[in-house]
Amino acid sequence: MSKIALISGVTGQDGSYLAELLLEKGYTVHGIMRRSSSFNTGRIDHIYLNNPGFRDKRMFLHYGDLTDSSNLNRLVEKIEPDEIYNLGAQSHVQVSFEVPEYTAEVDAIGTLRFLDAIRETGIKTKFYQASTSELYGNPLNTDPTPASGLPIPDYRLTELSPFRPTSPYAVAKLYAYWITVNYREAYKLFACNGILFNHESPRRGETFVTRKITIGVSRIMAGKQDRLLLGNIYSARDWGFTPEYADGMWRVLQAGKPDDYVLATGETHTVREFIEEAFAQYGETLTWEGKGIKETGKLSGSKKTVIAMDPKYYRPTDVKYLCGDATKALKELNWAPTVRFKELVKIMMEHDRDL
Ligand code: NAP
Ligand code: GDD
Repeated sequence: MSKIALISGVTGQDGSYLAELLLEKGYTVHGIMRRSSSFNTGRIDHIYLNNPGFRDKRMFLHYGDLTDSSNLNRLVEKIEPDEIYNLGAQSHVQVSFEVPEYTAEVDAIGTLRFLDAIRETGIKTKFYQASTSELYGNPLNTDPTPASGLPIPDYRLTELSPFRPTSPYAVAKLYAYWITVNYREAYKLFACNGILFNHESPRRGETFVTRKITIGVSRIMAGKQDRLLLGNIYSARDWGFTPEYADGMWRVLQAGKPDDYVLATGETHTVREFIEEAFAQYGETLTWEGKGIKETGKLSGSKKTVIAMDPKYYRPTDVKYLCGDATKALKELNWAPTVRFKELVKIMMEHDRDL
């Protein structure tokens, strides 16, 4: 008998790679998709629509929404999954400042709805919650950034580091984290948090900074766009490659006991470094001028301004520095990412240059 998985957020970046991985492992995969006025299955069409084998036998899509309890109850009862991966979320941090209540409904209460569906139906299943490095926020709220001229921090965040969320998204995810722990302890559910640091790929949404940069730089170099407008280019992120993180999610649910794990590369870079590395794929270097909102990046040869700042991309509060320590995942799950920063940028740039 093949195992049965239910994935919320199957149409998103992570959901699409996870569905692929589970199908490869022989699972039957059920995905929850939202009703939309335009097609929203672009990331999974290659495994669903274009592959009759999967469509007929091992992959199924169901309309649903994390704001709809009865829908989640029905799906859990009907599908009786062995494993549930709750990846669905309003996942954009800046957007969460515009729609804080909706973000809480989906990201926080949506997680509770799922856990309660498991509890009420009594289905024996494992539950994975897509937790995030955004939970850490700015631990001291005074951490220096490269822009300040002070050395950037060099600590790494673990499962034991304190949380200090700094956006409506992160606060909603904090509730989801703790309700997952609470249902594990109170009702003995096999419920786990993966605390994932940023992970990127050619399927990353186009409004997240890495993909915005790889698409923007490709368009600039193809003469289709003059410049790229950005916000805080001094925040530092621990960026990994999504397919490796999908494998990590699966490993979290294969552990001997339910627990919470950090998945990260342990290497951090600023947004500005990501931009420089993207242009380096074309053999270009940048000269930076000005400070703050007036800062620009010019191509060193032609002196053409290709990077400029726009106030609309600055957040009311932003996480300045993230770098994770995935030692526990290495020891207990044998999980270790191999794709590092330069290779990640190369993979994404090669894809978007062709696009
Ligand atoms: P994503 O590309 O934005 O995908 C989010 C998914 O959630 C999409 O399938 C989306 O559907 C679905 N969704 C949104 N609102 C929903 C609702 N009300 N009901 C049901 N589904 C809903 O995000 P991702 O990068 O794949 O991230 C997956 C999960 O991991 C998210 O929970 C995110 O917060 C978390 N996470 C991501 C990262 C990262 O670096 N990528 C790091 C840590 C944690 P549509 O396609 O219809 O929009
Ligand atoms: N999106 C975006 N657009 N971010 C920008 C821009 C811009 O034009 N300019 C600078 N940034 C900065 C943001 O202020 C932030 O500090 C950093 O680039 C990364 O932004 P995002 O790519 O939007 O990702 P994120 O780190 O806020 O959130 C992502 O990672 C989290 C894990 O740490 C999302 O995937 C979250 O869902 C996830 O939880």
